[in-house]
Amino acid sequence: MPLSLQSEPHSDPHAALPGGGRPEREPNALEVEDLRVYFDTEEGEIRAVDGVSFHMRRGRILALVGESGCGKSVTSYSILRLIQSPGRIQGGSIRFYPKPADGGAETAPIDIASLTEKDERLFDLRGGKISMIFQEPMTALSPVHTVGNQIIEAIRLHQDLDKQQARDKAVEMLGKVGIPGPEKRIDQYPFEMSGGMRQRVVIAMALVCNPEILIADEPTTALDVTIQAQIMGLIKRLQSEMNTSTLLITHDLGVVGQLADDVAVMYLGRIVEQGNVRELMKNPRHPYTLMLLKSLPGMSAGKARLSSIKGSVPSLRELPAGCPFHPRCPFAVKGRCDVGDRPKLEKVSETRGVACIRWNEITDGDIAAIDKEPTR
Ligand SMILES: Nc1ncnc2c1ncn2[C@@H]1O[C@H](COP(=O)(O)OP(=O)(O)OP(=O)(O)O)[C@@H](O)[C@H]1O
Ligand code: SF4
Ligand SMILES: [Mg+2]
Repeated sequence: MPLSLQSEPHSDPHAALPGGGRPEREPNALEVEDLRVYFDTEEGEIRAVDGVSFHMRRGRILALVGESGCGKSVTSYSILRLIQSPGRIQGGSIRFYPKPADGGAETAPIDIASLTEKDERLFDLRGGKISMIFQEPMTALSPVHTVGNQIIEAIRLHQDLDKQQARDKAVEMLGKVGIPGPEKRIDQYPFEMSGGMRQRVVIAMALVCNPEILIADEPTTALDVTIQAQIMGLIKRLQSEMNTSTLLITHDLGVVGQLADDVAVMYLGRIVEQGNVRELMKNPRHPYTLMLLKSLPGMSAGKARLSSIKGSVPSLRELPAGCPFHPRCPFAVKGRCDVGDRPKLEKVSETRGVACIRWNEITDGDIAAIDKEPTR
């Protein structure tokens, strides 16, 4: 697959960020703008998420990717307002656009970031309109209750159904996620199931209230490769059947290419590139995205060799000046990339946002030159 940072005809690069504004063609389900989440630690303030903006299109899958510790989980927890002390949402907005009733008009968005803890809308959103598959799925299930009782409880919290109706619905959902004999399995405890089956239960629980937004945070980390593929396929199938807007958090760019419609690439607490998956993977504009793609087997610009990103991710406590990717960036220019503020995410085409001051300067020749450098 060719990789290139070549420019394309673009609109005003200083136009609104991709996170802002609602495109005419498709309504957004969620818009996150300038989100900042800080942690107060003994060593000082950690800005885990520091100015994140992105949007999710209704009924689509947005993948959030980036190396470990870049703030993916903190971002997703913020959407459900699950950040706990010593963390806090320092600023920004998280606008949720509820789906209008059939034939009805769009209603005003809810800014989740500004709701108080006691606001009933927050209760309605959590596990109802927005639900989450956590990074550690085994901790999402209680070991002392049957899977059925846990799903039934989730249903009855958000839907006006009696016990039998909720049980019927739970059985139906367990069947939908591919659990054989759901009428019997519903009365089992999690320890009586395999890891893959438990993960299916977690997915059933997340989807049983037909959420408008599903957040899946590394939903297959603990599973073996074959089961991972099955679970990812299941999420994709259910997402398209139920038309759920999905935020899929993953390290795996291969999965992104197969499942997602849009992608946002995160580095040290900010989005550095966002766009349509196919376009972005074919033609990345940010050097970090380019290097992530190059580290994928078989995607190294026609070369058989596997390159990796040099160096390690700097500490959030001691961010380098200028572009924080500059110590690792093969295209960094002294005196430009290592001074001043972090580059902002700029809209460089209708669908693409990039945070790199050189996105329009780097040529195919520059990229070919780094391929010739000795493997780091
Ligand atoms: N409870 C906490 N106290 C202090 N700092 C925290 C806490 N939780 C998260 N952080 C900080 O937030 C950063 C981002 O964490 P986060 O869990 O969002 O990373 P991630 O991108 O999800 O990584 P991974 O891919 O490993 O799951 C961490 O590097 C850490 O510095
Ligand atoms: S701003 Fe400079 S250091 Fe940062 S990604 Fe762009 S070229 Fe690399
Ligand atoms: Mg995480």
